[in-house]
Amino acid sequence: MEWISDATGVRRVVSRARARQLTIGLVPTMGALHAGHAALLSALRPQVDVLVLSVFVNPTQFGPGEDFDTYPRDLAADAAWAEAARVDVVFHPDASVMYPVPPQTFVEVQGLDRRLEGAVRPTHFRGVATVVSKLLNLWTPDAVAFGQKDAQQVVLVRRLLQEMLWPTRLVVVPTVREPDGLAQSSRNAYLSPAERAAAPVLHRALSDLEQAVRGGARDARRLSAELARAIQGEPLAQLDYAVVVDADTLEPVPIMAGRVLVAVAARFGATRLLDNCCLNISGADVQAVMP
Ligand code: PAF
Repeated sequence: MEWISDATGVRRVVSRARARQLTIGLVPTMGALHAGHAALLSALRPQVDVLVLSVFVNPTQFGPGEDFDTYPRDLAADAAWAEAARVDVVFHPDASVMYPVPPQTFVEVQGLDRRLEGAVRPTHFRGVATVVSKLLNLWTPDAVAFGQKDAQQVVLVRRLLQEMLWPTRLVVVPTVREPDGLAQSSRNAYLSPAERAAAPVLHRALSDLEQAVRGGARDARRLSAELARAIQGEPLAQLDYAVVVDADTLEPVPIMAGRVLVAVAARFGATRLLDNCCLNISGADVQAVMP
């Protein structure tokens, strides 16, 4: 496994791969890897020749007062995950590589970046779109993998690829869960034992909603109100939103039809957790799909 930390190293690996007609797959992460990241790596491993893992805690996607300084960092553990996943190259740049001068150039996916998470974190997706664009420019990957858990990020990156004419294929990988249903997240490490015990309410409430839809419920407003009530029933959960939106535009929908994203965000103490399910509904037919 090769470690690279600068743009010259990236160019060397990319031109070597292209000269041999090898395909490149990229899994962008902020490190603190867990089973969810391992699922991204193993989804991409058989699809590409050169598998690249990037580990970079991107400062521009954290707002003032957010957890940039305390975000978990454990490069030794990340290296072990990468070895196990048969990663070929780990890209671990310094901030000075990704942002060589104080940034004045940003990429925005307007509209999508202000919905859901964007309402609470107004500059977050500008930071994500900017760093993902830089990674795509550097690596020119044939495929890039993102996890379902950050569904809004997936929707935004799909739009970014389309609008910026990048031919990179987007691979979306299902959320990996703990045995009690809690979605794997680097931020789960912040939870106290009591908060950790309370957090699976998000998945339980989403699963109940999915069952109701499978049973014929179609009134999205009513379903989202029930979803909110179920989460608010957990005393340690402070609900930010529980919404039913169109899976492409992220705009609220009145009825459950077509590709619909059901997304929730709640705070458990100081830790904000996200979860979602995405359904494709056609008449009586209900399929769980990727956002
Ligand atoms: O999902 C993440 O970990 C980050 O938002 C990403 C895509 C690596 C960009 O910094």
